[in-house]
Amino acid sequence: MKEKQLELLRRPRRLRATRQVRSLVAETRLDIADLICPLFVHEKESKEEIPSMPGIYRYSLESLLEECALLNEKGINAVALFPCVPREKKDNFGSYALNPEGIIPRAVEAIKKEVSDLLVITDVALDPYTLHGHDGLWNEKIKDVDNDATVEILVQMAVMLAQKGADFVAPSDMMDGRVGAIRKALDSEGLSKTSILAYSAKFASAFYGPFRDAVGSGKQKGIYLDKKTYQLNPSNSREACLEAMLDEKEGADILMVKPAGPYLDIIHRIRQKTLLPLAAYQVSGEYASIIAAGLKGWIDPKQAALESLLAIKRAGADIIITYFAGSLARDPFFNF
Ligand code: PBG
Repeated sequence: MKEKQLELLRRPRRLRATRQVRSLVAETRLDIADLICPLFVHEKESKEEIPSMPGIYRYSLESLLEECALLNEKGINAVALFPCVPREKKDNFGSYALNPEGIIPRAVEAIKKEVSDLLVITDVALDPYTLHGHDGLWNEKIKDVDNDATVEILVQMAVMLAQKGADFVAPSDMMDGRVGAIRKALDSEGLSKTSILAYSAKFASAFYGPFRDAVGSGKQKGIYLDKKTYQLNPSNSREACLEAMLDEKEGADILMVKPAGPYLDIIHRIRQKTLLPLAAYQVSGEYASIIAAGLKGWIDPKQAALESLLAIKRAGADIIITYFAGSLARDPFFNF
């Protein structure tokens, strides 16, 4: 005698019954090859952990090379470098950003020599190098960052980094017209093989806090810097698309949305509008929130990390910059 049951033609749970069938019908998959690992580098002799980002370090040149070799061996294709510059090397113009003997150019050269397969992405913005912490030149008269004067410097910075061997330059400053100006300068210097990863839709976000601690562009009088005259308003989706379309027209090779998790709708929307590869940056505050709740025992941080990354891919990102890349590369039980 059959037990009483509903007459259902469709029982979606059939396809969720076992790990195998769930895997078979999975619509989105994470792959280590999609991840870019951000790495901080400083001029000290050894690596030190960043207090607001447990598990993430500021590397010395030597320890950076070891980390790059390991990441490369585990299948990571690319790293994105960020400097932590001592205060005495900063000034109001970010001059150290243009020094070809600076920590980032030296790191690029060393990685391209020792771990030549690994793609190296260098940030193009002045905030780690300026005393005030803005991404560009501060003009006291207009009480704002000067767009065109900043672009001139960013162009020089991009050319210098490309000459040192960077595979990608990644302008993260949100100045108008910088992608086009950088593309033009690279090409006229015979650097047409250097790609541009454009931080196209970068929002004025509270989730950058731990990063600013990491690069020491921190707070002024206890308050994080206000970058609202150049970074996007979190309320604006159309404007984010406009920024992406401009970067595409100006010659960007890859577009990027940042942060990622709180902006899945923006990722989705830009994905519909471009044929270019789309990246998303899961930023320091997104990482730190998951790790901190995990340390408190309030969530399972590994599962939360995977879920957050899966959501970013499902929204339409092909590539994800994430501070979880190192753990994912190391831990086979993290299991994609
Ligand atoms: C600035 C820059 C920031 C990040 C990368 N490049 C912070 C900011 O705009 O203040 C943040 C990345 C992160 O939070 O992980 N050029």
